Amino acid sequence: MEKHTGCVSTDGSVMHALSPDKCDIDILDNGRTINDFIDDKIKELGSQESEEPFYVVDLDSMFKRHIRWLTNLPRVKPFYAVKCNSTPAVLRMLSALDTGFDCASKCEIRLALSLGVTPDKIIYAHPTKPPSHIRYACAHGVDMMTFDSEDELLKIALCHAKAKLVLRITVDDSKSLVRLSSKFGAKLVAVGKLLERAGELGLEVIGVSFHVGSGCTGRLAFKHAIADARHVFDIAKLYGVQMSLLDIGGGFPGREDFQVKFEEFSEVINGALDELFPPDSGVQIIAEPGRYYVESAFTLTANVIAKRVVIEDMDEHSNDEENSHNRMMMYYLNDGVYGSLSCLINDTGHNEVEPYLHRAVESSEQRYRSTIWGPTCDSSDKVTDNCWIPELYVGDWLLINNMGAYSVSISSDFNGFEKAHIYPVVTAETCHALNLSSIYNIIY
Ligand SMILES: Cc1ncc(COP(=O)(O)O)c(C=O)c1O
Repeated sequence: MEKHTGCVSTDGSVMHALSPDKCDIDILDNGRTINDFIDDKIKELGSQESEEPFYVVDLDSMFKRHIRWLTNLPRVKPFYAVKCNSTPAVLRMLSALDTGFDCASKCEIRLALSLGVTPDKIIYAHPTKPPSHIRYACAHGVDMMTFDSEDELLKIALCHAKAKLVLRITVDDSKSLVRLSSKFGAKLVAVGKLLERAGELGLEVIGVSFHVGSGCTGRLAFKHAIADARHVFDIAKLYGVQMSLLDIGGGFPGREDFQVKFEEFSEVINGALDELFPPDSGVQIIAEPGRYYVESAFTLTANVIAKRVVIEDMDEHSNDEENSHNRMMMYYLNDGVYGSLSCLINDTGHNEVEPYLHRAVESSEQRYRSTIWGPTCDSSDKVTDNCWIPELYVGDWLLINNMGAYSVSISSDFNGFEKAHIYPVVTAETCHALNLSSIYNIIY
């Protein structure tokens, strides 16, 4: 196979080379679909007498979401929040699409750099950083970083005096499923003092950032937060600081069935930006989307490894069919809340899942009240309660959609259950359009 040194953006320009350690992706060609891929993978596992859980990652979905971003928020450059899902295949795809990266630690910075991302495409967007991580950023040319307190300024002055600082402010996050402002962000009243202190320490403050909270449901949240940021830009001017960067953070929806559509947020954001930060203001606008890019791209496939039928309130005079209505099913999957489904206990933005059967289901099939458990010995390892599905058998497979956000990155191997394997797939058309063979090992 021909080896390329660079990758191509959507407008056809060559961008940058990535490290030669490629990861594998499977190509969907000749009309093969993701469902066909899952069917084949299940057969393959069966032939190997294995039933390990796995994710399929739809890289085309990420590509489409990126185009949707460019179309709806043309003034806002996305810096993908690596914490949301740091799967190398995901980061490579986003790098091929020329996004920036929001890293929260030395480890995430190292990962991004190892994949060929250049330091100017990274923002170290954590307001409270260990000194050694700041020094690592400094040593590797990562200059852009956030802060929200005087103590952080003192640390940065010692560890990275040439940093380009972004002041994280607290904003109203009351309409978000995961709130962040109680932990991070300077209040507007503290801004003047912080800018003064930065000046005394000889530090450069280039802009403002905020996060409206993850899983934002407030249609106007970004509008109010952008107005707060404008206020900070105006305060900065009084202190002789000319800011040039606005970072509108994350909080964008990652799934189609979310209560507010991405386009609704975009309309509000564009309106607020045009009014308060018009293009001729010269302010660069960036964002830190996490969920937006990955949530719907990942489908989890897990296996029923055990089953228990519980008969409730059995009436000895009733017949078998009546008793079948009193049957409650318990199924045990080989993945659960300590593995891929950690979102159920850690992510208030995604605390329910709806597993569905891999096999086709007839509408006439009897359904049973069922509880689905994870594999560990812990009784809080419960996937879902009280769902009504046809009877399952050991060896059956269940699928769960929208599993890409805060899943892989939080999962553990508690009780010795291995983390789900990850299979990225892409259509031949997208692979060709983006010249992905330069950054992945392609499997046909
Ligand atoms: C600083 C920062 N930026 C970006 C994100 C990504 O947010 P989301 O996944 O809601 O887009 C987070 C999530 O916690 C965050 O803390």
